[in-house]
Amino acid sequence: MHSDNLAGGKVMAGRVAGALVCAGLMTPALPACSAPPQAGSPAVGAAVELAAEGEPGGFQEAERFTEARAALVAELRRQGIQSEEVLAAIDRVPRERFVAETYRDLAYANHASPIGHGQTISQPFIVALMSELLETKAGDRVLEIGTGSGYQAAILAELGCEVFSIEIVGELAAGAQALLHELDYGRVHVRHGDGYLGWPEQAPFDKVIVTAAPEEIPAALVAQLRVGGKMVIPVGPRGAVQQLMLLEKSADGEVRTTRILPVAFVPMVR
Ligand SMILES: C[S@@+](CC[C@H](N)C(=O)[O-])C[C@H]1O[C@@H](n2cnc3c(N)ncnc32)[C@H](O)[C@@H]1O
Repeated sequence: MHSDNLAGGKVMAGRVAGALVCAGLMTPALPACSAPPQAGSPAVGAAVELAAEGEPGGFQEAERFTEARAALVAELRRQGIQSEEVLAAIDRVPRERFVAETYRDLAYANHASPIGHGQTISQPFIVALMSELLETKAGDRVLEIGTGSGYQAAILAELGCEVFSIEIVGELAAGAQALLHELDYGRVHVRHGDGYLGWPEQAPFDKVIVTAAPEEIPAALVAQLRVGGKMVIPVGPRGAVQQLMLLEKSADGEVRTTRILPVAFVPMVR
């Protein structure tokens, strides 16, 4: 199981192999988000090794992040991420700016990490997978529920999308907005509010991405997805295994649902 919160687990390869979109994914067991990074992970190895050599803020530090980022991209490729656009976006966004200071040296480890308020920045594999599943095109208008650090929104902006992102924790919304502005992601709009309501004034959206897990798919979000649009969303009970689902809205308004893989996200709260 891919873990996106602080209660991690192991990949269930059988479920992944059976998934429509992710068939053929190489899915090695990944560490729980709160556990120490797993030895043998190239991205983790690069980050840890180079952290010992680099001077904070100096040239070596910039270089170590470049190398660690490239190692992460290589690892995601080995895990089955195929979209060159998504991999290139991961290679461009400085994840070290989105993680908490304490975790900066491990910014390119392939696991989620705490960002305060009991929330997490998602595991890079999950960010890449969800981005790939959406099959975004430049100019797409994307609704994101759960801004968190702003990292997923930055990846979508790198893919050429205009992003409307809602975060329920005011301080996280403000922090992400400030950082995204500083990094020049002008096409990301952050709103402090309840994602269950969506963003009706900006609907319909070409794509919807939900990065916290509701127990059921919120009807308002389906209503705000345009015909032909896609939604990727983890669904399931709080603190237990959830299913990452892909929804596609067809011309007759019907919604086709595909189970992708078991995941563990923080709950989508009310
Ligand atoms: C796994 S984190 C998101 C990670 C984020 N996408 C990133 O790139 O850092 C889930 C986020 O969803 C937020 N959240 C939970 N319930 C929500 C709701 N009802 N509306 C909006 N945001 C919500 C949490 O506060 C948390 O920041």
